[in-house]
Amino acid sequence: MYKLIINGGIVLNGHIKAAGSKNSSLPILFASILANGPIILTNTPHLSDVSTTLRLLMDMGAEFILESDNSLFVDSSKLTNLVAQYNLVKTMRASILALGPMLTKYGKAKISLPGGCAIGSRPVNLHLKALENLGAFIKVENGYIYATAKKLIGTEIHFDQISVTATENIIMAATLATGTTTIHNAAQEPEIVDLVNCLIKMGAKISGAGTSIITIEGVDELSGVTYAVCPDRIEAGTYLIAAAITGGKITIKNVCYQSMRAILAKLLETGADIKTEKNSITLDMQGKRPKAVNIKTSTYPNFPTDMQAQFTALNAIADGCSTITETIFENRFMHIPELSRMGANLTLEDNTVTCKGVKSLTGAHLMATDLRASASLVLAGLAATGTTTIERVYHLDRGYETIEEKLKLLGAQIERVQD
Ligand code: UD1
Repeated sequence: MYKLIINGGIVLNGHIKAAGSKNSSLPILFASILANGPIILTNTPHLSDVSTTLRLLMDMGAEFILESDNSLFVDSSKLTNLVAQYNLVKTMRASILALGPMLTKYGKAKISLPGGCAIGSRPVNLHLKALENLGAFIKVENGYIYATAKKLIGTEIHFDQISVTATENIIMAATLATGTTTIHNAAQEPEIVDLVNCLIKMGAKISGAGTSIITIEGVDELSGVTYAVCPDRIEAGTYLIAAAITGGKITIKNVCYQSMRAILAKLLETGADIKTEKNSITLDMQGKRPKAVNIKTSTYPNFPTDMQAQFTALNAIADGCSTITETIFENRFMHIPELSRMGANLTLEDNTVTCKGVKSLTGAHLMATDLRASASLVLAGLAATGTTTIERVYHLDRGYETIEEKLKLLGAQIERVQD
């Protein structure tokens, strides 16, 4: 097991490049099941969630090659085993994204139920109900979803609740269905737009992505494609906070700032100076202590739940009192007790944290619990005085490519060591 050791209190300065988006790469890799030839993906991040997806696809009969130019060649066009096993699904809930593509292309799929995770129960009822609306027969037995359909038939889908991966699953299922599917109350995240752009390049007929109503006209087949994944807005947002929390100045290249407006608006409120250019963002905190900001998570284009923990770390050392309200996941506060151990003044009641900013945090021995909670501990460690040790960094490796290398480029003192 690896841990990170951070000597905090260093002002970060410099330039880094954002990675490709995790939450785009995963659905697009599952979309490779729909194609009748290989896909070549560029700008894919090096993350354990991407490796898990590739292992899952390989287990089903796909082949992949990581090319010397870092692009990923994936041929999932002829799957031989239409089963997503528990041992892989349990490590990554996004595995449910195999369901729509397998079912629509092969007429059947068997996928382990993902189960809960550290941030909440995370059911998949919306995925299953919408697939039933498209004509699938679904039964859940022994922890597995068994889905069959001679041919999915396009229809009107009304999601009771907005879900990112359910929207993606149904878009993919509808691409090869007979007739037209209209999804109402669809998620509007930029990663959905990225998936749809890729599917359109493969020959799908889809309109409305990025709005709450998406229409998909089924086609007979989809082809292979070469596609560049969009930049990761959550990774970029996390590094911007690393600059803000240490009073530094950094530039991040390879970003799409248009998809980060809610995050940038909050960073501006902290007192940071922010400049955006075509593909880059510069944040300059000019050595100042950030001002505390109130946060309420919501669906896109509002403030993302995936940035809540990182802003909690920022508020912990900010000037003033703030509230942080989580409305998407019921238990996304695993970082609170750990930040409190560093001296943060945080009180959790229901789904709201009240934070009284303290002047400084002190380094401590901490346990990473889930992906974004772990990122908040790294940020707190960068700002704290003394040494912070973070155990179980495999959570971070799910969503941050070479995090310690990027932070070192910005001047941080951070090392990964093996137990
Ligand atoms: C995706 C993102 C994740 C992000 C989340 C919310 C990927 C791979 N992951 O996760 O990083 O934090 O969106 O922006 O893109 N729900 C149900 N029933 C369902 C599905 C969801 O009740 O069938 C609930 C969930 O428990 C949660 C809410 O809907 O309370 C939103 O979850 P959802 O948008 O589905 O999250 P994911 O797509 O799993």
